[in-house]
Amino acid sequence: MKLTNFVNGQWQQTEQAEFRPVLNPANGDELAKVRMSTAQDVDLAVKAAVIAQKKWAKVPAPKRADYLYEIGRLMKERKEHLAQVLTKEMGKVIEEGRGEVQEGIDMAYYMAGEGRRMFGETTPSELGDKFAMSIRSPIGVVGLITPWNFPVAIATWKSFPAIVGGNTFIWKPATETPMMAYEMAKIFEEVGLPDGVANIVFGAGSEVGTALLEHKDVRVISFTGSTETGRKVAETGGRNLKKVSLEMGGKNAVIVMEDADLDLAVEGILWSAFGTAGQRCTACSRVIVHKDVKEELQRRLLTKMETLTIGDGSDENIKIGPVINRKAIEKIHSYIEIGQQEGATLLVGGEILTGGIYDKGNYYAPTLFTDVQPNMRIAQEEIFGPVVSIIEVASLDEAIEVNNGVIYGLSSSIYTADVNRAFKAQRDLDTGIVYINAGTTGAEIHLPFGGTKGTGNGHRDSGVAALDVFTEWKSVYVDY
Ligand code: ALA
Repeated sequence: MKLTNFVNGQWQQTEQAEFRPVLNPANGDELAKVRMSTAQDVDLAVKAAVIAQKKWAKVPAPKRADYLYEIGRLMKERKEHLAQVLTKEMGKVIEEGRGEVQEGIDMAYYMAGEGRRMFGETTPSELGDKFAMSIRSPIGVVGLITPWNFPVAIATWKSFPAIVGGNTFIWKPATETPMMAYEMAKIFEEVGLPDGVANIVFGAGSEVGTALLEHKDVRVISFTGSTETGRKVAETGGRNLKKVSLEMGGKNAVIVMEDADLDLAVEGILWSAFGTAGQRCTACSRVIVHKDVKEELQRRLLTKMETLTIGDGSDENIKIGPVINRKAIEKIHSYIEIGQQEGATLLVGGEILTGGIYDKGNYYAPTLFTDVQPNMRIAQEEIFGPVVSIIEVASLDEAIEVNNGVIYGLSSSIYTADVNRAFKAQRDLDTGIVYINAGTTGAEIHLPFGGTKGTGNGHRDSGVAALDVFTEWKSVYVDY
């Protein structure tokens, strides 16, 4: 199958274009070929989106929302198929694939509801015979740059508020996971979204992403990806005076206090550290544990880790799937030597799996380091794989300081039976998301999603806050 761009309601056939293979990370099978587009392809898509947006902005928001109800309905109808495709191209286990598709369905209905709210304000004027109000106004053409680790959910967090907000969009999905974008384009086509509202341009960030950032008619760029790339997006976007929304890396921690329910904590750590093979921006990669329960927590974690089956995620019995590609495996593995050189103790894992199916795919053993100091590189840098560092502390204050002592600020979690500690932690943890007695992952779509410091630049995905990215406030005065 050749995946070509979807522009102005048409699938673009271009025989001469460059294509790149899409590989199943579980076994190396070629699943499709994806178009590697050029800046000219972006320009073509933007031109179509500019024309379409003029009409789309005039469609009443509740009517724009009706398309989202239909999109949600079709996604629900195809949930199993979408989850299977997702697992094949991205590698996460099928149960997580289903969960991710569900997140997209929830987002469709949630944002559809916003089409009938989208409140502004009226306010008394200082003057007589004058009426003052603010309204949310469509912005124009927006560019969406999405990552491979959540190929459908993150795309829905951006494209659905863009749609309901009266914008048209160019979506550049990650080259590793274009098949979900193809499936979503088919859905956009089937629900009859007007031509040019939803456009998909496949290709590399350096070409397609840059072209979007530099295009004079693209007003907003919403990006999710690494902090390294995000910095470049911010620089190029800044030079071109774009509104840029950034969601980037994380170095998320679970804090376990001495009064915590340890079994509950182990469950939360396992799921948030090793789900999606640790390739989530919200993944738990540090466990900050009170010294009185450190040994016991470690013991229980090690026991539970033995039950984690690793393999092709399309098999229902598998708990941990492959990581995305060889480059990712090598990056993850390089941190094992770094950690050991820094003086951390490797408790389990730290190896690239080989033999049988492991030789065909990209499999990494769930890994636990202990005796980690907060300033070590393994405790500071985003590894984006199934590697966890255990850091011992003596108090809640110290735990909070360690949690906050990284450049990132996405998600954090505390396990404690003390409600006072829980409230203190939610106040003092410097992250965009805080969990009490739950792991660091599993954020739902009705609340803002995003982080502080090196994780973001103040914008949020999901929730009503997403409308702040995809609408502009307009103040209107009426003299009478
Ligand atoms: N909803 C996903 C999580 O919180 C991104 O892990």
